[in-house]
Amino acid sequence: MDWGMQNRLSRIIKPDTGRTVMLAVDHGYFLGPTTGLEDASKTIEPLLPYADTLMPTRGVLRASVDPDVDVPIVLRVSGGQSIVGPALSDEGITVAIEDAIRLNVSGMALSIYVGSEHEHQTLTNLTKLVDAGEKYGIPVLAVTAVGREMTRDARYLGLCCRIAAELGAKFVKTYYCEDFDKVVESCPVPLVIAGGKKIPERDALQLAYDAIQSGAVGVDMGRNIFQSEDPVAMISAVRAVVHENINVDEAFELFNNLKSKSGSASKVH
Ligand code: R5P
Repeated sequence: MDWGMQNRLSRIIKPDTGRTVMLAVDHGYFLGPTTGLEDASKTIEPLLPYADTLMPTRGVLRASVDPDVDVPIVLRVSGGQSIVGPALSDEGITVAIEDAIRLNVSGMALSIYVGSEHEHQTLTNLTKLVDAGEKYGIPVLAVTAVGREMTRDARYLGLCCRIAAELGAKFVKTYYCEDFDKVVESCPVPLVIAGGKKIPERDALQLAYDAIQSGAVGVDMGRNIFQSEDPVAMISAVRAVVHENINVDEAFELFNNLKSKSGSASKVH
């Protein structure tokens, strides 16, 4: 792999463990003022020391993240639709490669909607982005988005992840599912999992644990961290699951210990 491409990937997926904790804060690109991200800088700032990578939109990056901070950025570069619009899958590329370079990003993230009415459009978005990324040594993260009508099973997610890798994504973000090891086995590039909607902390730690044990290289988690009753305690516990292979009981105990120490200091809401 080209030196620059490998160097950027190594900033995201840490070479010492081969794993990563990505903090996803890009939800506003189609959800608007998501709970916990209304004041994005207030939410993001205390979590940055615990995140291996931050995944924002360029608007949030410029407005709410201090450029002096030493965290690699995987920039959300697809969008153009909204939760109230006619089709969630109707996405285009929303950031010019020159602006991604200007923002010094380590990676670019784009959603693909396999099986949707805009499947072809989103897959060719991916190939265009991969071409631009290859030109400048910037890896592309393909996000396998699912519609309400899609079943999140190993067969479907395996199909999405494999197509993303075949089209040139350097790593893929998908959902955890039963038989996730089959999704991992058939995907030749690293996988990270999304957290999804907020669930109880112990369940979210279980999700991260199961994904890691099945072969994911990490998480790209948003709501289950920044909507937690204690976001700093939660991201710390997730880190321990991802980088230290601790089990769910230990991780939940860590979460509770850190939570009781911090009181309400790190609460978002
Ligand atoms: C969705 O397309 C966005 O990329 C989110 O960042 C992603 O779903 C991860 O966030 P969460 O863990 O909240 O699902």
